[in-house]
Amino acid sequence: MTQKTQQFIIALSKGRILKETLPLLAKMGIELVDDPSSTRKLILDTNHDHIKAVILRATDVPTYVQYGAADVGVVGKDSLMEHGGEGLYEPLDLNISRCRLMTAGKPDMPPVSGRLRVATKYVKLARDFYASRGQQVEIIKLYGSMELAPIVGLADYIVDLVDTGNTLKANGLVPLEHILDISSRLVVNKSAMKTKYDLVQPFIDELCQAIE
Ligand code: PRP
Repeated sequence: MTQKTQQFIIALSKGRILKETLPLLAKMGIELVDDPSSTRKLILDTNHDHIKAVILRATDVPTYVQYGAADVGVVGKDSLMEHGGEGLYEPLDLNISRCRLMTAGKPDMPPVSGRLRVATKYVKLARDFYASRGQQVEIIKLYGSMELAPIVGLADYIVDLVDTGNTLKANGLVPLEHILDISSRLVVNKSAMKTKYDLVQPFIDELCQAIE
């Protein structure tokens, strides 16, 4: 009797990270069968029968991998730290989608009396940053377009990713404090590391070579 091959599920972060991850997978000989930009399918086939890919919002990737719904995932350090990393190994820095997590605001902001209001989707990271400086802040959770918040008076500052700085500039804002350097990481479900060792370890090794 032939043994059934185990499935191996890779969770990929939508957008910029996906664009930079697909060439690495291609170097490893893993290609998606359908075009992820046009298909409505949620579980994508690859050119290997036992390897499937799910394409998720970056914030959901650590959760899928933590609960073993995906065996491995590619996600930004920002989303990973905001999630907390429980149940995950982080064996590789893919060195892609590099940017910085920063505070930003209007230039020449007068000192704020009372508690600062900070808009961000990175509630945990922002709270930790200001707490480390002994500063009490009110965090306003947003899901996107953070740059709008200081312009319309919703918040004094934002905590967001900065790459070229063009988005800040286009909205009359300036980068202020550097919080963290960000890049994409490979995460692995801790139990898959044991139960699917024969699939996971070669994947890590080959991805490591593809990065080099
Ligand atoms: C990110 C980030 C900034 C922008 C920074 O948003 O939130 O808005 O990129 O890049 P820049 O410094 O090169 O202008 P993204 O486009 O990834 O979309 P999002 O709002 O969904 O996070």
